[in-house]
Amino acid sequence: MAEVTDPVDVNGGGRVVALVPAAGQGVRLGEGLPKAFVTLGGRTLLQLSVDGLLASGAVDRVVVIVPEDRVADVRAELPDGVDVVAGGVERTDSVRAGIAAASDADLLLVHDAARALTPPSLIARVVAELRAGREAVVPALPVADTIKTVDLLGVVTGTPHRSDLRAIQTPQGFEAGLLRRAYADAAAATDDAGLVERLGARVRTIAGEPLAFKITTPLDLALARAVVDDRDLIEE
Ligand code: C5P
Repeated sequence: MAEVTDPVDVNGGGRVVALVPAAGQGVRLGEGLPKAFVTLGGRTLLQLSVDGLLASGAVDRVVVIVPEDRVADVRAELPDGVDVVAGGVERTDSVRAGIAAASDADLLLVHDAARALTPPSLIARVVAELRAGREAVVPALPVADTIKTVDLLGVVTGTPHRSDLRAIQTPQGFEAGLLRRAYADAAAATDDAGLVERLGARVRTIAGEPLAFKITTPLDLALARAVVDDRDLIEE
């Protein structure tokens, strides 16, 4: 008979490494440089994302993945102890490079540099769920818009019930062996949880945070700047 392991013991004392893929070109922001290097209140989106991970108190080590020609500069501007490695052509290649640099991890987080305002408390909640024995955990928010599927011509092919849909954020958290297996033969994917789902893993959602939104368009950047300005006013 298979041995039954108490889930609380599985990941309880594990070492948490957070991977921050920031090697994309991300030109949709229209700022003329990769989006992880756009600034918000004097800090880059990448620096802010790393700040949030460290502030969570739930992460033992951070590995940042950037374009090859930026490795030295980024290393100089991030706190000691944050590792910086070169990414690849596709996001999948970049995350794979991060996984290779995190052989010491028992638990892995993958966190978009573009979710620069993610509250540290959300990061801590993802890790707490992993430590409680979940193998894969993602933050999720209900969607406000109706979502339709369409074909190549833009003709609607379906309207899933909105109540069944969630918008997925990061950090996404995984038992490290599971994410390593998922990436061993992964094709391109925009979502890490999608890869572990293909292995049949059970991906658990937890309540996401509006402030963990992905800064993708000029409108998102304007919103992020307004949030930061507001915060500065409150703290003054
Ligand atoms: O393009 P998208 O917003 O989905 O990218 C999500 C994250 O993946 C970004 O932080 C981006 O820098 C990163 N990425 C990467 N390597 C690539 C492409 C994207 O690290 N080749």
